[in-house]
Amino acid sequence: MLDIAVLVSGGGTNLQAIIDRISDGDLSGVRIVGVVASRSGTMAEQRAVRANIPVKIVCRKDFPDPEAYDRAMIAALSDWKPELIVLAGFLNLLGPTVVAAWRNRIVNVHPSLIPSFCGPGYYGIRPHEAVLASGACVTGATVHIVDEEYDRGPIILQKTVPVHADDTPQTLQLRVMQEAEQVILPKAIALFAAGRIQIEDRKVIILGGTEND
Ligand code: GAR
Repeated sequence: MLDIAVLVSGGGTNLQAIIDRISDGDLSGVRIVGVVASRSGTMAEQRAVRANIPVKIVCRKDFPDPEAYDRAMIAALSDWKPELIVLAGFLNLLGPTVVAAWRNRIVNVHPSLIPSFCGPGYYGIRPHEAVLASGACVTGATVHIVDEEYDRGPIILQKTVPVHADDTPQTLQLRVMQEAEQVILPKAIALFAAGRIQIEDRKVIILGGTEND
């Protein structure tokens, strides 16, 4: 059994996809031991409570400096002893001590094809606005290992979706979430659970072959 903790900030649709894949048997070797939300009152928190998953709120503004925030995050997570930490729409940067405590055991889902439309400022609806402004014909989502910088760590899985001529940022965001993020995030967790992820420098090796489309 792979024990995972999920970090959230907002709507929680990616968290819901993980919960649903566990209950329908696709992620049979996985258990969500806890959810950390970056603020209280989110839909993500409600989804966790509804699924009987313990929730803790760790809010950056409750701490005087980044180090105190990191210590609180490590303390909150350590109680549950997670083997993998999943950032599912989590919008804060994890500090270096948190990243070091779970080196190569933290994954993030990002709503674009990294290395495009990512990094500081590219969160939520913004990558989709930027994709439309760029005239790109395809976009998608990326699941990657988390290191000390936004959206930079080794890439595990990516999935493309088309950009349509009449897309708005909102229609594109929905397509990326439903057809890419919510597909590849559970898939990446399943690869960890099966012990099929190996990391060498900046490259992820998927033992037994790639799962990319
Ligand atoms: C998702 O699109 C996720 O990829 C994005 O925020 C949204 C949250 O959705 N994350 C980032 O932009 C991180 N850089 P959710 O809360 O409904 O899962």
